[in-house]
Amino acid sequence: MRSAIAIGLLLLGAVGPALGDDASVARCGRRKISAIARGCRDRLRAEARFLHDADAVAHAQRVEAIAGRLVTTWAQAETEAGDIRCATDTADGAAAAARLDAAVSATLTGLSGPTECRRALVRLWAPLCRVAIATERALLRGRSDAAAARAAAVTRLRGRIAARWPAPGCTGGITPDEAALAVLRLASGAAGDATTRGLRTVAAELGRAVGAAVEPDEVASDATYAAALAHDMGSLTAENAMKWGVVHPQPDQWAFGPADAVVALAETSGQRVRGHTLVWGAMQLPGYVDGAATAAELRNYMADHIAGLVSRYAGRIAQWDVVNEPLPGTLDPPTPDGLDDNVFRRLLGHGYVEEALRLARTADPAARLYVNENGIEVPGPRQDRFYQLVQDLLAAGAPLDGVGFQAHLGLIPPAQYPDGAVIEASLRRFADLGIEVELTELDVTLLFRPGDLPTRFAFQGDYYRAVVAACVAVPACRGVTTWGLSDQYTWLRSFFGVTDWPLPFGDAWERKPAYFGMRAALLQGLLAGG
Ligand code: XIL
Repeated sequence: MRSAIAIGLLLLGAVGPALGDDASVARCGRRKISAIARGCRDRLRAEARFLHDADAVAHAQRVEAIAGRLVTTWAQAETEAGDIRCATDTADGAAAAARLDAAVSATLTGLSGPTECRRALVRLWAPLCRVAIATERALLRGRSDAAAARAAAVTRLRGRIAARWPAPGCTGGITPDEAALAVLRLASGAAGDATTRGLRTVAAELGRAVGAAVEPDEVASDATYAAALAHDMGSLTAENAMKWGVVHPQPDQWAFGPADAVVALAETSGQRVRGHTLVWGAMQLPGYVDGAATAAELRNYMADHIAGLVSRYAGRIAQWDVVNEPLPGTLDPPTPDGLDDNVFRRLLGHGYVEEALRLARTADPAARLYVNENGIEVPGPRQDRFYQLVQDLLAAGAPLDGVGFQAHLGLIPPAQYPDGAVIEASLRRFADLGIEVELTELDVTLLFRPGDLPTRFAFQGDYYRAVVAACVAVPACRGVTTWGLSDQYTWLRSFFGVTDWPLPFGDAWERKPAYFGMRAALLQGLLAGG
């Protein structure tokens, strides 16, 4: 069943980058900002009164009332706007109220010392409110330098707090960094920040790409899908359309339709394209390639395939997964040279990876060339084998620009959900070889996770945040692509015949905690100076 939001969008005919009615979104944003501004001001007054009368019960009631007003205004504004950009940003005003609360707590928690300490902190809190509101207003007005203005304001705020706090005789309270974070949390989303500025825009400010793998016919038949892609994703990968068996089913027969559709879709929205994939021995190979009898025959096929596909899109596809999954499957026994026992290795030897890279470089010298692999997010023998392959390729002078970490997380035991820090270290290990890295097929299965669905979604939100933060922390990590966008189309359902919920959008196109986890990681990257 489609959500009311989806139906609303369809009624508005909202397809592509122009999502719905801009005036209603702007109105909604203004109301949300006013609610935050009022909440901030009332909260300051409440704190000041508490200092004066020390009546804890009355204080708690006042704080509750402030939160209640914020929730109501926010929810009303969202409902009236009826637009995905305003309606699903923070889920509801409760999140905004909680942020307001968290911002105040961040300043006051752990504070001890004379009343004057509390007073000094409450005074510090006023500029916090002002910065949050001013920057959100600038964002709402669409000022092109709004993000930079916010970053500068946060830096100034840090400086001011550092200069005034801790006050003499006071301990605990806020650090300059906590204050800056509090501002970001408080402000984020008030102007429809997540919504007027999708994930792709925040990621672009960080110089990274956020993308999704797509089936073009699914996008064409689902207006909400098209709208969400255009709004949030800055990169597209063909989930199947560019695979050998699909695009080149016979030696002399090409089927470019779906691949062309993916590239056209991306060009309409100014999105980057990742080409996936030229040579994949394990799956979706046409019979004539799998059944090649001699090295010469297979070499011919490979040269023709790579030249034909890469040159068709030369200059329009930014990155190619030239070889996909060169290692054996995670459950297969290891092989003597560490490579998967497929037709390419059998007939051409392990040098096929280098050959494929050279063919791709010739066909499009501008494309960044990747080797893509699964299960390499954690250290261990599998990652070591892949590392060895990459080192050998670089030593041989092969034109290799990057490594794709598939990141189908939660699928591979025993390290089911490797920590963000582990993933970050793995990314760095490869980046230290002087190449790029990307997370190319991210999804987080919940199949083996205990608890009810909301609990599992909350876990997934935190985990998405940690995984995206791992990429953000490594400058050579150029982007994150999720393998699909909404749970309703995930390959984990169709491929394994199970019901899973691995993606940032839910079955009714609602933004899940996973979406907000991605967004939080990107925003924190910006706060940390990108
Ligand atoms: C999957 C697609 O999502 C499915 O639709 C298809 O049936 C099989 O392939 N690793 C990869 C991707 O590199 O190409 C795979 O895509 C998922 C695992």
